[in-house]
Amino acid sequence: MRVAHAARISCENKTMSDHTIELITLDGKTLSYSCPEDTDLISAAEGVDIYLNAQCHSGSCGACIAHCDSGEYRLEGYSEDALSEAARSQGEVLMCCTRPQSDMRLSLPYEYDLIRFEAPARRNARITTMTRLTPDTVKLELQLEPDEEGALSLDFEPGQFVQLGIPDTDIQRPYSLANTPNWDGSLEFLIKLRHGGVFSTWLDRQAAPGMMLEVEGPFGTFVLRDHGLRPRYFVAGGCGLASIMSMLKRMAEWQEPHTVKLFFGVSTEKDLFYQDEITQLAADYPNLQYQICLTRPSPSWTGYHGSVVEAFKQSLAGAQETPDIYVCGSPHLVEGVTEAAIALGIDPNALIFERYLAGDAQDSRCDIS
Ligand code: FES
Repeated sequence: MRVAHAARISCENKTMSDHTIELITLDGKTLSYSCPEDTDLISAAEGVDIYLNAQCHSGSCGACIAHCDSGEYRLEGYSEDALSEAARSQGEVLMCCTRPQSDMRLSLPYEYDLIRFEAPARRNARITTMTRLTPDTVKLELQLEPDEEGALSLDFEPGQFVQLGIPDTDIQRPYSLANTPNWDGSLEFLIKLRHGGVFSTWLDRQAAPGMMLEVEGPFGTFVLRDHGLRPRYFVAGGCGLASIMSMLKRMAEWQEPHTVKLFFGVSTEKDLFYQDEITQLAADYPNLQYQICLTRPSPSWTGYHGSVVEAFKQSLAGAQETPDIYVCGSPHLVEGVTEAAIALGIDPNALIFERYLAGDAQDSRCDIS
């Protein structure tokens, strides 16, 4: 649950080796806490119930990126896929790998309301349905058990993800929700089965309807931004469609008046899924236009032949009004869309993205090629 209390939080019990960490959110609010020199910025925040955007806690996903405005720090133990040398040289840091050597001031790339001030909920859920959409894509549907107050629903924003735990282990993997918040506690996911992935292997070989698993969350700051009636473009690669479908369904439920374009890309017809769902969504929500893009279609394909980035770029070049751009998929996709948008003069703040990186043991929420 989000907390809307005063935007400045100070932590007590500071010692000589602790430093004050001041955070500034995208909407200009501030909060501060203290962090020992030998502790990373995410762990110290969580120690005082400040839950910032983070996913792997090990420098591999890039979720905890922030800009250091001032202060000295040590930054080590991360993957260059999560933080490039160019980004580091411009002052970007991964907070889970950053240890302060002085007081620090950092800018967060999301609003204050997306920070949580209590530990994420852990709930039990039952597998209701597993549907193979393509040879390596599964739609997983869960039914939450009631929480201690008897409520079935999960309080999440379209675009967010949860951690799904493999039963009888402490292994969790993040997956985005593909449906919208609801009162009956049903959750939907689109899961890419990756060879060698621990969760993928469990889902492929052992999971079955009726099994229970643990759901922790929600997490994430990839959510719809309130920027008035600016058009919204959505670019999805593979299972990156999950969080974007959640956003689009929410916009359709509320019949939001924005102009909306969806660009959805996979490689071949056999990788394609959710065509009927997208068609139905466009019928229910006439503001939505969409383009399905295949990079390696068969000769009988009559739709767009080319990359989703190219389709997006062509549409953006002809746009009358600057849109907000939501991108979800591989780092390659996010980079392509970002470069294309910036080359066409788009303000980087209009780009809202979630990159799916392969985590431990190769589970990933989508293709990462
Ligand atoms: S949470 Fe810091 S890189 Fe993943």
